Amino acid sequence: MSHAALRVGICGVGTVGLATLEILRGQSLALTARCGQPLSVTCVGSRREHPDHDYGDARVSRDVMDVARDPEVDVLVELIGGTSVAYDLIKLAIEQGKHVVTANKALIAEHGNELIAMAESAGVQIRFEAAVAGGIPIIKALREAVAANQVSEVAGIINGTGNFILTEMTTKGRAFDDVLSEAQTLGYAEADPTYDIDGTDAAHKLVILASLAFGIPLNIDAPVKHGIQEVTPADLEYAGELGYRVKHLGIARQKDAGIEMRVHPTLIPESKQLANVDGVLNAVMVVGDAVGELVLVGAGAGGAATASSVCADLIDIARNPAGSGPALGVPVAQLTAKPLVPAGDIASEWYVRLTAADQPDVTSKISQILTSCNIGIASLVQKPSSADEGKAPIVLLTQIARESVMTQAIDEICGLVETDPDVAVLRVESFDQ
Ligand code: HSE
Repeated sequence: MSHAALRVGICGVGTVGLATLEILRGQSLALTARCGQPLSVTCVGSRREHPDHDYGDARVSRDVMDVARDPEVDVLVELIGGTSVAYDLIKLAIEQGKHVVTANKALIAEHGNELIAMAESAGVQIRFEAAVAGGIPIIKALREAVAANQVSEVAGIINGTGNFILTEMTTKGRAFDDVLSEAQTLGYAEADPTYDIDGTDAAHKLVILASLAFGIPLNIDAPVKHGIQEVTPADLEYAGELGYRVKHLGIARQKDAGIEMRVHPTLIPESKQLANVDGVLNAVMVVGDAVGELVLVGAGAGGAATASSVCADLIDIARNPAGSGPALGVPVAQLTAKPLVPAGDIASEWYVRLTAADQPDVTSKISQILTSCNIGIASLVQKPSSADEGKAPIVLLTQIARESVMTQAIDEICGLVETDPDVAVLRVESFDQ
């Protein structure tokens, strides 16, 4: 492919699409110098009419499939989201011999094995830096910068909306719904923010990171998933009193028994770097045998930061149309599935909050149950009685225990006549190993 310009077709002109157009227009001279040719938007696909948008000289079509068929397009940028039309669109673009850039983590997590294999057969690139952690170049870091390493762990804060909500609730005592609507206004949240809240968005990103880190096929069903809706203001407060911050983490870890993949709210000691990554920032830690520990921090959501990654992919394609290696580090046919550690076998320290009758023998009954389950207690505190007559919250931290053992202990504790069935159980990660 040799043209006077790399011809770009953009499908989807929401927050990220508009920010991408703005960078391509605003930085056109610098980008031409860096790429050796202009990045020229020749076609825009938008299913809705936006009379106030300025697309310059680009042809505009209401049918995004037109962009995939347009002979004046070398690279299709998919920013429409979802996994149905976007799937058909990317397939068509690849069939038409076009490179693809996408920010669509759900699509890559669910259909990436097939789409990337198709692109490999067709000799075109499919790139998705913007799909994980917004502006942080974590895909490039895993594919290229740490390619010499055996990676044992990738972990971090990989949803900007969730981190923004938890930070505002913790530091300003704001209400969940109030912060969520601000995150939507700021363009951080997904069109349907359910995925930001219930951990699905982070799980999609973790699937992609784990594939790159461990050379395994993308497996959308692999992560154990819990969302920030499981965290109450009381838990944020008690965690703080104990010297912890609550963050929503994605963790993919290579263990002797297999690979652990999980996303969940997590207590982290406030002395640790990840505990202090606040607001819309994301942070991804990579542990490699040669490089040791790397932590990349940056804006995890928002139009400009995400568009920075979209444009980085376009620049890479312009500079090197033949590609800089397989999209997932090795060709899809060489990805090798590894056993997954079942949720019940994943061990960690734990935070537990429950409500029980405000009487002296309750804490000793709870201690006895934990001891009988072989769970060490790091701290157990009965708080002052709540407004609920005769009841008091009990907050405890345990030593390392498998989830199945912890679940058994919690069932027994909740079976006591003195305890309420409502209990909060969150993992604690000290990142000491
Ligand atoms: N809704 C996502 C987030 C956007 O908040 O992280 C970036 O992937």
